[in-house]
Amino acid sequence: MTGRERHRLSGVAQIFPGENRLSDESLNRFVTEKLADLEKRDLRRTLRATGRAHGASVRRGQHELVSFACNDYLNLSQHPEVIAASCAATRALGAGAGASRYVTGNHALYAPLEQSLASLKGTEDAIVFGSGYLANIGVIPALVGPQDLIVMDEHCHSCLFAGAKLAGSRIIEFAHNDAAAAEDLLARHRAQHRFSLVLTEGVFSMDGDRAPLAELLASARRHDAWLMSDDAHGLGVVGEGRGSGTVAGQPLDIPLQMGTLSKAVGTYGGYLCASRAVAELIRNRARSLIYTTGLPPGVIAAATKALEIIATDKALVARPLAAARHFAAIRGMPEPQSPIVPILLGTPTRALDASAALEERGFLVVAIRPPTVPEGTARLRCAFSSAHSQDDIEGLAGALSKVLASL
Ligand SMILES: Cc1ncc(COP(=O)(O)O)c(C=O)c1O
Repeated sequence: MTGRERHRLSGVAQIFPGENRLSDESLNRFVTEKLADLEKRDLRRTLRATGRAHGASVRRGQHELVSFACNDYLNLSQHPEVIAASCAATRALGAGAGASRYVTGNHALYAPLEQSLASLKGTEDAIVFGSGYLANIGVIPALVGPQDLIVMDEHCHSCLFAGAKLAGSRIIEFAHNDAAAAEDLLARHRAQHRFSLVLTEGVFSMDGDRAPLAELLASARRHDAWLMSDDAHGLGVVGEGRGSGTVAGQPLDIPLQMGTLSKAVGTYGGYLCASRAVAELIRNRARSLIYTTGLPPGVIAAATKALEIIATDKALVARPLAAARHFAAIRGMPEPQSPIVPILLGTPTRALDASAALEERGFLVVAIRPPTVPEGTARLRCAFSSAHSQDDIEGLAGALSKVLASL
């Protein structure tokens, strides 16, 4: 009896003794060797249960730690009004969306959220995705394809690279934040392609520095290329809360402004702010929007409330950057441009050791290793939030000095 006949007879695929063992063995060998290799290079990752406690504190096992690892920069995930909005929407509409936005998942809470995003970013329209990752892998291939050119910062987030690869376009990276290098690439290569996209982050997630958006926008315009900025770490914390696209109080006219609701907004989801026509095309063409379930009503309602707070509470929005600047001043570092302050340590082992030593002293600061950051630049990433007190900040600075001296 052939395998296909057996399948037809039983109605389900069955594994008979001795069958498929070869593939089991090769799979096991592959994963075991891969894990051993990651372990040897101090690159294996471990998921550790971590619960939010109060303010900036988290609980890991028996220990309470002051966390400098969280992207909830405004602590809005814990805000009573945000939680109340989420609970009310969940009670009224249920715990899940139930289907794709194109079927029955497009509950009425989406429209006010998209209006708030567009208004905060100064664009005609906005479109909300299931996450920032889904936004990037949906938007990029919907706009460019194999005939096109993508010029992108070498430090772009993994999901921007994933979107670019899915598009099948020619990808050329430019040196981090080097607007002149981007201009040079466009000057040399743009003419050989149908369309061109320039990709950058507004605030770099692992470096904390801001992109030269005005220069990149000018270059893109000169060469008929489209600038897309990922403002995951800018919204709510720079540009008076409007994000990295607002420079010296003025919004730059960036045509494709992507971001996430999972960092300063404190909830979950991603978005693209753009013109009405671009948003309409994305609504029709982005696979990661069309072929996935909508966000739960509670998430959308919480994000809308959080954006309302971001738009109105200027003092709150200023706090994370002020905290980062206080920390940097104590350590004699250059003034940070965002609430993210990296401490470069070089090897994964040094970064892991420093992180473990800080944890022993009551601070959670994660070690960031390749491939998240380039080889030789493993680091501690300190993320400051509105929940950090002076004592927290000064405590971390003191503990870090001791830990670095002992490495
Ligand atoms: C720069 C950047 N873009 C996109 C994302 C993805 O966003 P999300 O967590 O909403 O999927 C992240 C988060 O990890 C990020 O740091």
